[in-house]
Amino acid sequence: MAAQTLDGKATAEAVRRDLAAEVSTLREQYEVQPCLAAVLVGDDPASQVYVRNKRQGCEAVGIRSVLHRLPAATELPRLLDLIDRLNEDRSVHGILVQLPLPRGLDEAAVIERIDPIKDVDGFHPVNLGLLAAGRPRLVACTPLGIRVLLRRAGIETRGRRIVILGRSITVGRPLALLLSQKGPDGDATVTLAHTATVDPAALCREADVVIAAAGQPELVRCDWIRPGAVVVDVGIHRRGDGSLCGDVHAPSVSQVAGWLSPVPGGVGPMTVAMLLHNTLQAARLQIGLLQGNESRPGS
Ligand code: GUN
Repeated sequence: MAAQTLDGKATAEAVRRDLAAEVSTLREQYEVQPCLAAVLVGDDPASQVYVRNKRQGCEAVGIRSVLHRLPAATELPRLLDLIDRLNEDRSVHGILVQLPLPRGLDEAAVIERIDPIKDVDGFHPVNLGLLAAGRPRLVACTPLGIRVLLRRAGIETRGRRIVILGRSITVGRPLALLLSQKGPDGDATVTLAHTATVDPAALCREADVVIAAAGQPELVRCDWIRPGAVVVDVGIHRRGDGSLCGDVHAPSVSQVAGWLSPVPGGVGPMTVAMLLHNTLQAARLQIGLLQGNESRPGS
């Protein structure tokens, strides 16, 4: 039997409707309009599309967005100077520097320059540290989006064996921390597999939930998946013929899995929705309404 669809597009739409109402309440009660500053360095076509989608997402829920474009040849001091100005600007609540940066620009230095309270990507070591300490504040958007996608589909994580493929700072590592947190939407037994893992297929076959964020096209095949398991595909790749695929070989895995997230229309729209959530959270933090990431997005 074919797997049920983990529909990120529909779920993100529902989340955005809720967010629009929350943004409107904030504007009425506190006269504050959340604002995202996006920084795009260079002219990578994929990055341009991602930033455009993020800005459109903002505008659709009443969040203001401003774009700062810098040439590919920008040197680090100039980029850091822009971040300093955005950190100081009280009308800006969230700062997003689109990655990857052109070669030669130190991404870690750039991320660390962002004021952690405006770090809507959740990549700053302070925000990763708070998550690791069990006190999440601004959490990376893709991990947060996956958690909401599972919750809204009614998929329990408590006590489940979850294998995550990929240990990136943007997805795998924060996701492992999030799903193993104590409490609702956590409490999973998480294995974080990576390029040095011996026999990832055997690990996946034991799992109730497999989350593929390895960055390898169609890595996960149907013989990796236990019948009925939940499979979340974080990858997005363009094949030679122009079509898209993920880290999961969807035609075969969908015949075995109980649930599968499609590419496109799965995790991607959830990531954008969580960026909007984080921008609203950042605004609330900055006007003193919250101490930490107290609301559960999309609950
Ligand atoms: N590039 C690919 N994914 C992301 C993301 O989530 N945030 C940023 N800033 N850049 C990215």
